Amino acid sequence: MSEQEIHPVQAMEGSIQVPGDKSISHRAVMFGAMAKGTTKVEGFLPGADCLSTIDVFQKLGVSIQVDESTVHIEGKGLDGLIEPKEVLDVGNSGTTIRLLLGILSGRPFHSVVVGDDSIAKRPMSRVTHPLKEMGVKIEGREEGTYTPLSVRGQEMKAIHWVSKVASAQVKSCILLAGLQSEGTTVVEEPYLSRDHTERMLSAFGVNVERKPNGAAIEGGQTLQAREVKVPGDISSAAFLLVAAALVKEADVRLLSVGVNPTRTGVIDVLKEMGANLTIENEREESGEPVADLHMSASSLNAVTIDGSLIPRLIDEIPVIAVLATQAEGKTVIKEAEELKVKETNRIDTVVNELKKFGADIEATEDGMIINGPTPLLGAKAESYGDHRIGMAMSIAALIADGISNIQNAEAIEVSYPNFFEHLHQLSK
Ligand code: S3P
Repeated sequence: MSEQEIHPVQAMEGSIQVPGDKSISHRAVMFGAMAKGTTKVEGFLPGADCLSTIDVFQKLGVSIQVDESTVHIEGKGLDGLIEPKEVLDVGNSGTTIRLLLGILSGRPFHSVVVGDDSIAKRPMSRVTHPLKEMGVKIEGREEGTYTPLSVRGQEMKAIHWVSKVASAQVKSCILLAGLQSEGTTVVEEPYLSRDHTERMLSAFGVNVERKPNGAAIEGGQTLQAREVKVPGDISSAAFLLVAAALVKEADVRLLSVGVNPTRTGVIDVLKEMGANLTIENEREESGEPVADLHMSASSLNAVTIDGSLIPRLIDEIPVIAVLATQAEGKTVIKEAEELKVKETNRIDTVVNELKKFGADIEATEDGMIINGPTPLLGAKAESYGDHRIGMAMSIAALIADGISNIQNAEAIEVSYPNFFEHLHQLSK
């Protein structure tokens, strides 16, 4: 178990290409495996989660070659997927398991899906329930709520599903099952969640109808292989943006970052707090908006974060909490219960760990309240095996007085393998 020592930093300067987007990298491999022909993926994130997706689809009989951030997938269409001889292990990856279940549901074979200790605690009923309604046989612990899960794919009927949560994993799972069902499947969600599945399925030649809060898909369509260029991950960029906002002097450029409006809540919050952030060189690549982000140090004011903003920044809340410790006033994050079912209960883990640095932060039923600005002191913090907690506490450590240690820092490999290298490169 690795421990990372972090010293405070006064200034940050330079340009960085952050690693590929995790959500888009997963989908590129999955859709490439479902398509007929060769899909080439550039800018792929070779983090542990996306490597789990590759491993699972190799076990389903797909030939996939990875060379750092370039991946070649030899798809034989959905019918080319074969009954796996081994258990499919998704590791720590919620996106892999939930989207995979949608794909397996229409395949005429049996598979067993497992993950790590964190996955074993995350609710799968949000996807197994609609899949069962569509006619799939899924068994699992506590009536299909938790892993291990076993799936026997079936002929399915289309469904109109109104999801209680704004979750792209739920929406994508149902759309991928809908693609293999008879009729038109509709998914509605309380607020629009990230729409990478809808965009990428369209790019692979599938007709997806967009709705203000959801999407619809007609069963029986096939995917055509294509090249995918993966933009930089705004969820990874967020850690460096917050670091640049907080150190005394900063002039940092993050290149080719995905700025899909369903993901840019962190940019809106940084701007509302008064950060010096500019979006430059906006363009579109593989159906996704991309830009360079330019950040310099700034003084910050507190904000309230809730409602439709939550799904647009759900993964950035741990590092936004660090930001809020240095903002003038009371920052309130509410209607964010979903944080409780991420890789860890991120309300508890963020609040516990930031308290160790001396932050004025309290957990609430559906979020947290942070009073600032509060000077932070070096601390021994724990990642709890959650990549985003490990990175958020590393950013707190950069502005803390004294030396900090991050325990179980290897968890950061899940989404940002060269995180500490990049921090080191920018620190002056
Ligand atoms: C993801 C969706 C989000 C996000 C996760 C990646 C995706 O989860 O937190 O990191 O790729 O679809 P939910 O859809 O469960 O909110």
